[in-house]
Amino acid sequence: MSERIQDIANKMVAEGKGILAADESTETIKKRFDTIGLESTEENRRDYREMLFRAEATAETVSGVILFDETLRQSARDGTPFTKVLAEAGAIPGIKVDQGAKDLALSPGEKVTEGLTGLRERLKEYYELGARFAKWRAVITIDGDLPSWNCVKANAHALARYAALCQENGIVPIVEPEVLMDGDKARHGIDRCYDVTLWALNTVFDELYDASVALDGIILKPNMVVPGQKSGEKASVEEVAEKTVRCLKEAVPSAVPGIAFLSGGQSDELATAHLSAMNAMDTLPWKLTFSYGRALQAAALSAWGGKRENEAAGQRAFNHRARMNALAATGKWSEAEEKKVA
Ligand code: 13P
Repeated sequence: MSERIQDIANKMVAEGKGILAADESTETIKKRFDTIGLESTEENRRDYREMLFRAEATAETVSGVILFDETLRQSARDGTPFTKVLAEAGAIPGIKVDQGAKDLALSPGEKVTEGLTGLRERLKEYYELGARFAKWRAVITIDGDLPSWNCVKANAHALARYAALCQENGIVPIVEPEVLMDGDKARHGIDRCYDVTLWALNTVFDELYDASVALDGIILKPNMVVPGQKSGEKASVEEVAEKTVRCLKEAVPSAVPGIAFLSGGQSDELATAHLSAMNAMDTLPWKLTFSYGRALQAAALSAWGGKRENEAAGQRAFNHRARMNALAATGKWSEAEEKKVA
């Protein structure tokens, strides 16, 4: 019998575990490989992802891995399908199904995520291939008077249509409305991030309700409430944790089993520190964990450097970051832990 989406969603946010976002599109992974001077070939992409999937910490700390289409269909060097490698590590395979953020017509500077056409058929195939959850990322930019209502609404509506299609096909939707950190200088302090994030989340939950999406069968993947990177404003770990949790409590119904944050360009250690501070705060109605891409992979990518002889070093770097984030998922990370294991 097929598993209920509610059970899958609960497994995705199991105690002390989180999600590895390894779903970089061909274009994005090329940018990452450029930073280590490595050509983005199918073989190199496979080797890199195999290194991550076979790392010890994947089995210990990763509940699920978000994959790009190519990786879901790929096999490890020894011919074992990646879906089997992940199953052996106890990690659920997930799939990025959006087709990217495109210019929003008549709304200069804003994007809307596309990919609904043919999505039902793609989801059915992804299910057959073993995927049990999916991801769709919407991006919202803070810039001057932006975002516009048009941008917030169009993205929320697309997220809800995607989420309903996932649930219809036995797949848990990760609902990701990302308010970007790198917007306007002048008007992008932490309080503006709070307001825009709250607005986006309220709109998303309205749309999910209208689309009859079961909230106990989704995972929310939001940004944290942080000052814009160009704003010149600094916020302490406590302030980010307090404002993020307050914003989420305002907007996210307690039926949602879990919230798995994106890292969005935060440094590796800050992404961990923020998550830990939130989990240490007080009783929360949902699980709070990580669904990091860059903040889990950056150190591993650089230690590996595209060389087979560095695989063990790459895995050590990944193990460390993943274990630090697993501690953060239960509020137990500290700088002392960071130094002890490094
Ligand atoms: P980052 O953690 O690098 O922001 O990536 C997470 C993700 O999946 C964005 O869609």
